Formats: sequence, C-alpha cells, structure tokens
Amino acid sequence: METHISMPGVPQPPLSSELGEAMEFIRNVPVFADIEAAELAKIVRVGVRKKYKKGSIILLEEETGAALFVIVSGKVKIVRTDDEGREVILSILGENDFFGEMSILDGLSRSASVVAITKTELFMIHRRDFLKLMQDVPSVAISLLKEMTLRLRKADSQIKSLSLKDATGRVANVILQLADDIGTIRKGRVEIDELPLQQDLANMAGTSRETISRVVHSFIKKGLVEMRGNKLIIGDYEKFKSLFM
Ligand code: CMP
Repeated sequence: METHISMPGVPQPPLSSELGEAMEFIRNVPVFADIEAAELAKIVRVGVRKKYKKGSIILLEEETGAALFVIVSGKVKIVRTDDEGREVILSILGENDFFGEMSILDGLSRSASVVAITKTELFMIHRRDFLKLMQDVPSVAISLLKEMTLRLRKADSQIKSLSLKDATGRVANVILQLADDIGTIRKGRVEIDELPLQQDLANMAGTSRETISRVVHSFIKKGLVEMRGNKLIIGDYEKFKSLFM
C-alpha cells in the first residue's frame, strides 16, 4: 500500500497531521539533518510511503534506478546473487538508513538487490526530486557523502578480512559488522536480535556453515559471546573489538 503525498509542481496545501508526522520522521533522518523546515516540507510533499511484507523484494540488482528510499521502520538486507542463486549479504540496514542512492547518482543499474527481512515501511523519493534537493541544499549532499564514506570504510574492512584473516577472524568480522549494522549497545554489551541464518553468515565470511558453527561455539566457550535462541550477545564489545579488529 502507498500513500501518495503530492505531485511536484502542483500548488501545495497546508501540512495535514499525517504530513506533520512525516516531517517529524524526516527530521530525525541523519541525511536530512540541518535542513530548514521549509525544505523539509518540500521533501515530505514529494515523497511516497510504501509498506512491504517480510521477504518482499524491494529492489532487484540490474534494474534501472528511479528512486531513493529511507527506512521508516523495519530492516532490509542488501544482497548480491550469483547465476546459481547463491547470495551474499553485503549489509543490513534499519530505521533512518537510506538506500538506492548509487544508481540515482551514476545513472547505472541497481548495484545490489534489497529484500525486506522484517515488515518494512519506506519513504521513497523520486530521482529528479532527490537530485534537485541535493543541488538546493548542499548539506544533504555532504551528509550523503559522509554516509557513503562510512560504507566504503566498512567495505574496505570486509575486503581486508576476507583476503587476510583466517576463518576465526572472518567470522569475528562478520559478527562485528552485524553488531554495527543491527546491534543495540547498552552498558558495553551488544545484542544482535535475529542473527541471520548460518548459511548467510557463512557466505558473508567466505566459509562453510560447519566453520561458522565451530567458531561461534569456540567464542561461546571462551565467554566472548552468548547465544539465546536467535539472539547473539557480545558481553564485552570493546574487548571483542580489540581482539579481532
Ligand atoms: P543502488 O545501487 O541504487 O541500489 C542498491 C543499493 O544497495 C545501493 O544503491 C546502495 O544504497 C545499497 N548498497 C550497495 N552496496 C552496499 C554496501 N556495501 N553497503 C551498504 N549498502 C549498499
């Protein structure tokens, strides 16, 4: 289901309570921080809210990119697949994160597929509106570059891990990546709810399911992590980082 907010170029009515709520949400999205209320209202008016069920494919690798998405609620995985349908998760994004900026900026096809891993609500902005916004409001372009720089740093760390670390180091790196992407930190302890399937973890770490199981058990034995159902807990996040980063 989508709620169409408005058409660009058409005279704008005052903000309704629904739009006021959308303004509140957009104000908290880091890429739109430091924007004046009038500019925020423009974004809200050109945006479209869309809801997806768990498991829905939101974007397909190789499609043409026509819009940028901000996550209002829920979680998505960014994946690449090979010809045999095997997939690797590049990243997991959650509330207030954005995706779809790459093909908007370079005009090429989508660099990866995006799949909802929980019920997800998105705020979609069409390419031309987003490009115009970046021209009109330089702080949006700067925030976008900052986030893209952070993603490049993470990708560099993944390349280092996959090329230079042994299996234990690679599994630890994947756990650290998930902690950063979807973990919640409290008093030095990180909880990762709904850890991805062992096969997904294996693909991310460039190893087998058996190795994931063996390494995670060795971490449990050493008291570095705990498993509670599908939740992984890193008791001392700083210590874990210092051992494996
Ligand atoms: P786009 O190429 O338009 O569509 C797929 C999106 O996935 C892409 O834009 C980015 O927003 C996102 N994406 C691709 N690679 C990564 C990555 N390594 N980390 C986080 N997000 C990514």
